[in-house]
Amino acid sequence: MNATQFLTQQHDEVRQFFADCEALEEGEFKRRSDIFSKIFKTLKCHTQIEEEILYPMAKNVDNELVLEAIEEHHMIKILLDEIDQTPPSNERYVAKLAVLQEMVESHIDEEEGVLFPEVTESCGTEKLDTVGLKLEERFKELWQGVSATR
Ligand SMILES: [Fe+2]
Ligand SMILES: [Fe+2]
Repeated sequence: MNATQFLTQQHDEVRQFFADCEALEEGEFKRRSDIFSKIFKTLKCHTQIEEEILYPMAKNVDNELVLEAIEEHHMIKILLDEIDQTPPSNERYVAKLAVLQEMVESHIDEEEGVLFPEVTESCGTEKLDTVGLKLEERFKELWQGVSATR
């Protein structure tokens, strides 16, 4: 899988997790928090590999967009940690999750719609494959060390 395919696959997983959350009944705290743990872990690792590997490379292509993306990651991570610290039965939990979903969806839509095509055009397929492998390797490494509190 090349770099953008690998990252897009993770975006799709996260989209699905949010959709699974939306389908829950109000009182299904445990199931919601189980899904949140997956969102937490996937996004923590995903944002880090993008920041370590993809963004430094993409900076040469579209510096302004990358700087914005880094700030969006920053806000996403703050919210991830905040939700992680909030009891799932707290009345604000679902609202926080909905705000996270909006932020994440708009961020990944922009990556897929603007940043990835720009990177693809400037890098060429061979480099994109190499970077894909690096992303995959680093993701596996990080995956071992990250987990949500609950
Ligand atoms: Fe991102
Ligand atoms: Fe992404």
